[in-house]
Amino acid sequence: MKGLILSGGTGSRLRPLTYTGAKQLIPICNKPILYYAVESLVESGVTDIGVIVGSNSSQEIMRSLGDGSRFGAKVSYIHQDKPLGLAHAVKISEEFMSGEPFVMFLGDNLLRDGVAAFVEAFRASSPDALVLLSEVPEPQHFGVVELVDGRVVRLVEKPKVPPSSLALVGAYLFQPCIFRAVKEIEPSTRGELEITDAIQWLVDHGYQVEPHLVTGWWKDTGRPSDVLDANRLMIETIESSMQGTVDATSEVIGRVQIGVGSQILRSTLRGPLVIGDHVTIEDSYVGPYTSISDGVTIRKTEIENSIILADSHVESAYRLDACLVGKRVAIVPSQARPKAIHLVLGDDSRCEF
Ligand code: TTP
Repeated sequence: MKGLILSGGTGSRLRPLTYTGAKQLIPICNKPILYYAVESLVESGVTDIGVIVGSNSSQEIMRSLGDGSRFGAKVSYIHQDKPLGLAHAVKISEEFMSGEPFVMFLGDNLLRDGVAAFVEAFRASSPDALVLLSEVPEPQHFGVVELVDGRVVRLVEKPKVPPSSLALVGAYLFQPCIFRAVKEIEPSTRGELEITDAIQWLVDHGYQVEPHLVTGWWKDTGRPSDVLDANRLMIETIESSMQGTVDATSEVIGRVQIGVGSQILRSTLRGPLVIGDHVTIEDSYVGPYTSISDGVTIRKTEIENSIILADSHVESAYRLDACLVGKRVAIVPSQARPKAIHLVLGDDSRCEF
């Protein structure tokens, strides 16, 4: 059995971060989202993995994952010239799969309990496809599945009027018959080959599509608020660890990870939170559900429920909440007169005051 991780796409909902980097490499608890997908496949015994990469971020993804050996996997790359849809990504992976069944995992999705149990179920009953489902409050943003007597009868992509509240989770298991389906279907009105249409084709042609409900949490990190949610959910699982230094005037409450060479001075940390390597926090409060990447400096700031990427500098008179800040960003007090807010923002940035 092989693995297929989709790590191409446009990532338009995560602009401006995705102008300069792959969304799959945005860290959750200071670890790229994509690594969780690779680890989850390896944990389920799937180590021969094809990774779909797009034209924008292929170099960055390939540099980050390498040949996969440090995950105990063998990673090969499959280039997708344009993001023509999830089923298109399947279509171009046929040669790599060489007739084997496979697990497909969306590289921007996180599943708390991984896929090992579903891989086992698939191996045991050998259906033509196995789909994972989760109850969601706003199914119109997802691929939605209608079940009748526990059988899959209909799948629709982002329906205006959802037939159920069961969303397709971003992990699927397929036998090679999926390659027939992806060749038979036509692009949707948004111009993509939809995986929902391919699975519907299987259903319509008498193939067995087995639904399984996911019980642990699942998160599709398509939008900034989803990334923060995923960080919050994942950070709940951390253990405390201390590799940096905390001075005598600082206070550390709850579960906190502090990386190598990091210093906490005259500050309060209230976990759960994660601080990477070589971070400096001075005269600040860092609250729950915050992930701070390597090389960040935080001075005279109150911050919680946020993600700050590497080498940024934060010194804010405002309390920061639910912020997703890129790499090498400076949020600093203005020395200039008149006293005003000075902004230099990339395209599609968003500031709320
Ligand atoms: P999506 O989040 O559905 O699409 P997207 O990345 O284009 O994002 P947006 O809608 O914000 O523009 O993609 C789910 C995953 O599949 C993600 O990891 C990207 C990947 N993907 C591909 O590899 N190839 C594709 O053709 C598409 C559409 C997505």
